[in-house]
Amino acid sequence: MLIRRARKEDLPALAALEAEHPGYPAWGEKGLAAEEEKKFSVTLAAWSDGVALGFINFWILKPQVQLNSVVVSVKALRTGVASALIGKLDEYAKKNACSEVDLEVNEHNAPALALYAGLGFKVAGRRPKFYNNTDAAVLMKKTIAA
Ligand SMILES: CC(C)(COP(=O)(O)OP(=O)(O)OC[C@H]1O[C@@H](n2cnc3c(N)ncnc32)[C@H](O)[C@@H]1OP(=O)(O)O)[C@@H](O)C(=O)NCCC(=O)NCCS
Repeated sequence: MLIRRARKEDLPALAALEAEHPGYPAWGEKGLAAEEEKKFSVTLAAWSDGVALGFINFWILKPQVQLNSVVVSVKALRTGVASALIGKLDEYAKKNACSEVDLEVNEHNAPALALYAGLGFKVAGRRPKFYNNTDAAVLMKKTIAA
């Protein structure tokens, strides 16, 4: 698996990954392109033999990194793609002297909650009715050792 910065020409493939998960709040190609314009935004994509396996987007907001989205192809689920992408995020955090990673996840997103808990994220709060004015957001944080 190769993980590298996403390029403009990758965005249709990354938007297609989002579309594999109906109900997940997708950015779409336009939203992903808007991220490319932000200096503090990083999108990394994972590939195998030229096929997109997943991507992650985060913002470097020193001293924090905000994890906005991580999406994995249905065909590649449970093969460690999201864990590898978050491992790369950790490398960026260290390089940029960021000591904390923050994220929000839907209270009903069991796979994501299990993923983050397994990678050392702790629940730091809750925002009721955050998604579509119904589901709560669980706020999670992880400290990055220098
Ligand atoms: C959540 C998501 C990113 C996980 O991606 P993934 O590449 O399958 O995750 P990994 O293979 O790195 O899994 C690492 C660990 O997370 C946990 N995990 C992941 N998916 C899980 C599931 N469906 N059920 C229970 N635990 C799960 C497990 O502990 C897993 O380790 P294991 O496979 O050795 O048991 C993926 O399901 C996805 O793309 N979902 C749709 C988009 C989304 O909801 N993103 C999260 C936004 S907050």
